[in-house]
Amino acid sequence: MAASASIARVIGEEVLDSRGNPTVQVSIVLDDGSVASATVPSGASTGESEAVELRDGDLRRYRGKGVLTAVRHINEWIGPALIGLLADDQWRIDAMLIELDGTDSKSRLGANATLGVSLACARAAAQACHLPLFRYLGGDEARVLPTPMLNVLDGGIHGNGGPDLQEFMLVPLGAPTFREALRYGVESYHALRDLLLERRYATNVGDEGGFVPVLPSNAAALDLLVQAIERAGYRPGEDISIALDFAATGLWHDGRYRLELEGQSLSAQEMTALCRAWRGRYPLVSIEDALMDNDWEGFARLTRELGERVQIAGDDLFVSNRSFLVKGIAQRCCNCVVIKPNQVGTVTETLNTARMALAAGYSCMVAHRSGETEDTSIADLAVALNCGQIKAGAPARGERVAKYNRLLTIEASLGAAAAYAGRNAFQRPR
Ligand code: PGA
Ligand code: ZN
Repeated sequence: MAASASIARVIGEEVLDSRGNPTVQVSIVLDDGSVASATVPSGASTGESEAVELRDGDLRRYRGKGVLTAVRHINEWIGPALIGLLADDQWRIDAMLIELDGTDSKSRLGANATLGVSLACARAAAQACHLPLFRYLGGDEARVLPTPMLNVLDGGIHGNGGPDLQEFMLVPLGAPTFREALRYGVESYHALRDLLLERRYATNVGDEGGFVPVLPSNAAALDLLVQAIERAGYRPGEDISIALDFAATGLWHDGRYRLELEGQSLSAQEMTALCRAWRGRYPLVSIEDALMDNDWEGFARLTRELGERVQIAGDDLFVSNRSFLVKGIAQRCCNCVVIKPNQVGTVTETLNTARMALAAGYSCMVAHRSGETEDTSIADLAVALNCGQIKAGAPARGERVAKYNRLLTIEASLGAAAAYAGRNAFQRPR
């Protein structure tokens, strides 16, 4: 890298995400002429302790969802503070953002402002040293292509009228390469569409590109996935497994978890029993947020009872935040951490949480948000971490496919050095 490449301009803008809501885009110009941009995603089923996404609240614009305040913070506050800093000094840049903000939750500047700047700096620095982002963040060791978790049925608040569970995913862990894994997943996605059409279900898609059929039960969704895998010519559990995201905080009503389709209200213990039963009947490899985001004891029990046989992933529980992960490790909650950069607000903090998780024997699932953009940074992040798992939605809708396409390009660029995580991503050391 030109060691002298320093930040010359920082430009924040309001653009749109995949739901048509405003979001933050940041462009950074370095003094060697390098230019790069980053765009920030946005969640809907957010964890209680996520870093704060700053919205204007001005109901005359975008129903209060404008981000002009965050953009102003970038242009008038953050930018001037960063001018002249070396672009590859990511740690210092992020430390400066944290200090300027001065809150635990990034509520003053907005995590959408800080992440946009942090990520754009990383991109600009990568550009200045003529490295792809995954190599810039992960060094020479970065070469593991993640196993994709393809969300093919959307429910919960991402697919109104669909299943209660938020995400039903295909995990092509038996493929030899990422490119083949994607093909297995896409063919099964199309087989699922055929099955839905044959049975006269709707094939409209939800926020993450998964279908949103009106099914008689959540188990029926699991049956459909197994049938789709078989219809496409693959072996359930061997070639393609299944992952779930309950997003259970959204199921919590009056002290119990409500599964509308089953007509049941379950306690935490009963949810654990349901996971065990489904694990016995279906080729489940990962279960995310099966309990609500403050039930540490429940997660510890779930992990104790099922963690040897299936990945127990924590998303809203950890919110990609190191301090929550420390608590989780101490209490033995989950064995996988979902990593979403905008839950914590800077690249450095994201990498720190993921690296701490991996060092503690947890797996990491790098993930998109339900409101996405054409930004593909999470694809590079997953390779940089060699963590072996990415969830980026269905193989449909441009903002989802962009991540998978980026991984195809990375795999091709690595040539013989590329390794596909496949089943190894789910083998736990403890
Ligand atoms: P969100 O959903 O982006 O709406 O939070 C994704 C998830 O829960 O994993
Ligand atoms: Zn989740």
